[in-house]
Amino acid sequence: MNIACVSDLRPRAKRRLPKFVFDYLDGGAGSEAGVRRNERAFDELTLKPRALVNIETRELKTSLFGRDWAAPFGIAPIGLGNLIWPRAEEAIAGAAAASGIPYTLSTAANTTLERIAEIAPGNAWFQLYVSKRDEDVADIVERAERAGYDVLLLTVDVPLAARRLRDIRNNFMVPFKITPRVALELLTHPRWSLQTLAAGVPRFVNVEKYAPMVSRQSIAAYLTSEIRGRFDWDDLKKLRERWRGKLVVKGLMAAQDCARTRAMGCDGVVVSNHGGRQLDSAPATIDVLPEIRAAVGPEFPLIIDSGVRSGEHVIKALAAGANFVLVGRAMMYAVAAHGPAAAKDLIELLIDEASRCLGQIGYTDVPSLRSASPVMRTRPRSSG
Ligand SMILES: Cc1cc2nc3c(=O)[nH]c(=O)nc-3n(C[C@H](O)[C@H](O)[C@H](O)COP(=O)(O)O)c2cc1C
Repeated sequence: MNIACVSDLRPRAKRRLPKFVFDYLDGGAGSEAGVRRNERAFDELTLKPRALVNIETRELKTSLFGRDWAAPFGIAPIGLGNLIWPRAEEAIAGAAAASGIPYTLSTAANTTLERIAEIAPGNAWFQLYVSKRDEDVADIVERAERAGYDVLLLTVDVPLAARRLRDIRNNFMVPFKITPRVALELLTHPRWSLQTLAAGVPRFVNVEKYAPMVSRQSIAAYLTSEIRGRFDWDDLKKLRERWRGKLVVKGLMAAQDCARTRAMGCDGVVVSNHGGRQLDSAPATIDVLPEIRAAVGPEFPLIIDSGVRSGEHVIKALAAGANFVLVGRAMMYAVAAHGPAAAKDLIELLIDEASRCLGQIGYTDVPSLRSASPVMRTRPRSSG
């Protein structure tokens, strides 16, 4: 299929998904100003082009965590990915592996971590949400290690369940409850409904052994019951001692937190505000990136996400100091709009956009772009 840009995918995804599913994917916390701020900040950053450079041959290859990736971006962890489309998670992991980029499986995914490790050996990262019971955390970490994962992303920006108003208004539950409103949505989206019902309503297969959902619960209730609001630096230290692979902390926005993470021996940070899904008033990630880079020094791996909607955004992130980028909603819009086969097309689109942008501004590879840092801020830094 011919995808012109990510913005074309969202309205199509909206038409193809029942409202409560689209709202789960698209929505954010509170007024959703944070979601809009993330995207706007990327749009408003400009790149200063250099001319008269031979850019005929361009290379997006990027080194991170001891290996080369085909492009400087990967796929962010998305909980309930198979709700967007049956077997979406396997399809996206497979497409990422075939393209030589990483896929991150969420703790709250609907495919087992063991299965994804088989589909994307060496290309799969595992995202960890810690639960209340230490022995459960130890068990899932051990499973990830046994399955061959060597990169663990610990998400720390969900100390509490957020108030996502669309989910609250829709009374979004898993498994969903067939109320008259939900029935109408299912009837008016027959393709999604039949395929999803045939595949079986998605379950939290990685964690149900620890916290079986005894009954239907709202997402907020489920998360509130599982999230451990007291996870702190001491716990991070213990996890660092426990996990032998690369440990990356996802969801940091403060420079001092990133510096402390580095000092603790973690291997990188994902500068993220969870795509505006946790704290509505969080600054845009691209706006805090420069101060974080200054605090952690030039070598420490910084990955960024939240608001990335094009290959051009990927290039801006690198030019502003990131080593790598994660793509969240954009991938899910593609799969929702065109089915799982679109995962590969979306990756190709982002690679094409990034490569053209790189050439357009007069660079031929990622290291030279990163060292030149040709970004210009069109807004005052404090407006983040
Ligand atoms: C529907 C949805 C589910 C998500 N689930 C998770 C999750 O389970 N774990 C996690 O660390 N982040 C999760 N995130 C956050 C993403 O990993 C990523 O930080 C965010 O989507 C980036 O913003 P973007 O969507 O604007 O690209 C989720 C995001 C969305 C949109």
